[in-house]
Amino acid sequence: MLFNPRDGSLPGASWAWKKMMRFGVAFLVIIGFVVMLWPSAEPIKMPLTTVSNITISPDVRCELDYDLLTRLDVLNVAQYTRREIVVDTTEEPVPYTTRLEQPLLGVKKGTEGAADGCSIPIPMAVTVPKPPKLPIASHIDFGVATSVERLNDSLDAFAHWAGYTRTRIFALIETDRSENGIRDVKAKAEDLGINLFITESDDDYLHRYFALIPLLEENARESTRWGCIIDDDTFFLSMASLVEALDKYDHTKSMYIGGLSESIPQIATFGMIGFGGAGVFLSRPLMTEITNKYDECSAMDFTGDRRIAICVYRYTQTRLTVDHRLRQLDLMHDASGFFESGREPPLTVHHWKSWFHADMPKLAVISELCGDTCLLRQWHFGDGWILTNGYSVIKYHYDPDEGDLAMEQTWDAHNGANEESYLHELGPLRRKDEDKKSFQLQDAVVEENGRVTQWYVLRDPKKGDEILELSWRKR
Ligand SMILES: *[C@@H]1O[C@H](CO)[C@@H](O)[C@H](O)[C@H]1NC(C)=O
Repeated sequence: MLFNPRDGSLPGASWAWKKMMRFGVAFLVIIGFVVMLWPSAEPIKMPLTTVSNITISPDVRCELDYDLLTRLDVLNVAQYTRREIVVDTTEEPVPYTTRLEQPLLGVKKGTEGAADGCSIPIPMAVTVPKPPKLPIASHIDFGVATSVERLNDSLDAFAHWAGYTRTRIFALIETDRSENGIRDVKAKAEDLGINLFITESDDDYLHRYFALIPLLEENARESTRWGCIIDDDTFFLSMASLVEALDKYDHTKSMYIGGLSESIPQIATFGMIGFGGAGVFLSRPLMTEITNKYDECSAMDFTGDRRIAICVYRYTQTRLTVDHRLRQLDLMHDASGFFESGREPPLTVHHWKSWFHADMPKLAVISELCGDTCLLRQWHFGDGWILTNGYSVIKYHYDPDEGDLAMEQTWDAHNGANEESYLHELGPLRRKDEDKKSFQLQDAVVEENGRVTQWYVLRDPKKGDEILELSWRKR
């Protein structure tokens, strides 16, 4: 049949028509999608590129957060372990290093009771001292010579020790030509509870450093007992500990308190001085004596922390009182032995973003949960793993004896130092353990529910990195 009398169309015409209709509908659907999904305001982010960069071993039996892995700078995950730590507090003193029978990591993951295949089901219970009260430090003023940018970058670290303690920080910065630099920095300081006073000066750094003393002297208030000159990378682990330490000294006398370098060649180069990075404390009577000799001392060739020392030694009878907990930390590249020593923590650390790396503000995040007395607190577990809170989780190639306080000499000799060069400050020492396994703190955050989560990473470029997530909560 060549002709279809019913609709008058040629054979195959309805088929062609349907095909066109289908094509039309499909076309409209596609157009619709294109219009709906067209990146008009913000582009739609495809996670594929981030994901494809990161390799996860089949040994990892839980979902991982790719943003977190990027933040931890991990591209190849060999292991992921989560463990909860439950904190009890006590009024009794607790030694800084505690031995526990239980293993930290040698426990099967993902068994009954575990949140997921990466979690160790049993929480670890630890006991720490009751956190100290927020100290009042209105009798200490700090002085720092820096630039507006560096000051801005230092505020998060300052907030840990200076925030809400009623101490004051006087910054003497080079003249700032930016529009709102100073105003912004002051606003940020106020948000962090830091009393920050900024003075601009055209003097160079080393002159500004010495000019901090008359600046502190002129601004002293009735409550002022101590002036402290710091570097912008001087970090105090605990204001409560600092206040307690200073209470032992007589602020009514002329006093010069500081820390020596840990390295004899540095002392040979710079002298028996309070090294600036450790923090240099001057009682109010000494600040007055120096201010009275300001012109003579400013004219000397010596600069910076040396100028303070030579000025004190030339014009007063005051001598350096060494406080061994004020730390210059002249340790090159790897200071882990210092932080993992299990000894009483220092009052200050320095050089943590230059000579070696230790992110002190991140290390200190745990204090939000259990106070400053929790920082660097150490637990030695039954399986040989040692947690130094906020710094690392390590295992030596042998298990050290209980009470062995020798410090592992991990840093590189510098400026002609030898093995004996560090004993006067850091002994007893023992040789570096080349086979130490080490998870280093990479990040720490306070969660909305008040918990603190820390991530420690053991880097292995060949086998992939191992990640340990510790989630801390109060009982
Ligand atoms: C200060 O730091 C903040 C980040 O905390 C940054 O947004 C701001 O631009 C910085 N300001 C100056 C003046 O450097």
